[in-house]
Amino acid sequence: MVVGKPLLTVLQIQDRVKELAREISTDYKGKEIISIGVLKGAFMFFSDIVKLIQVPTDIDFLNVSSYSKTESTGKIKIHTDIREDIRGRHVLLIEDIIDTGITINYLKKKLLAKKPASLRICCLLDKKERRTADVEIDYTGFEIPDKYLVGYGLDYENKFRNLPYIAILKKRG
Ligand code: IMP
Ligand code: MG
Repeated sequence: MVVGKPLLTVLQIQDRVKELAREISTDYKGKEIISIGVLKGAFMFFSDIVKLIQVPTDIDFLNVSSYSKTESTGKIKIHTDIREDIRGRHVLLIEDIIDTGITINYLKKKLLAKKPASLRICCLLDKKERRTADVEIDYTGFEIPDKYLVGYGLDYENKFRNLPYIAILKKRG
């Protein structure tokens, strides 16, 4: 497997993250929120965006997996659940990428069952053409083509997460 040249550069990501944070800050003006990051993939996006969100936010994480190599298994495993009580609170769920939508749909249902005051979804990347689950996304960074991507938190077998940019993963040769 080889990593191609950046599909989204450090600068492009930074600019878009700033815009999303501005939009989120405006929408939640006067409110306090709890930002919940979906690990591991969202760790970089999460830390960059929460630094720029201009309303008070608590932080929590969910650690889940559903992928095996480059295919979604559809079976979601929760490794670590949230620790905070979200009842009556404004939840912002922050995800790296939405592909089939199965993961986010599952997490949304799971969190809604805990009766938050509101729940919004923010994802950096949206592979729209792959969607099978019907899910509304409130804040999207980029719509991207159906290619397997790595970097900026995204992995292939837990590798490449530390790349500062996002690139297409190619089979060698
Ligand atoms: P979904 O359940 O099919 O929407 O898959 C969502 C999860 O699969 C994301 O949270 C990612 O962790 C992972 N994923 C989907 N597409 C990619 C990709 O292109 N690169 C790396 N991870 C991906
Ligand atoms: Mg993810």
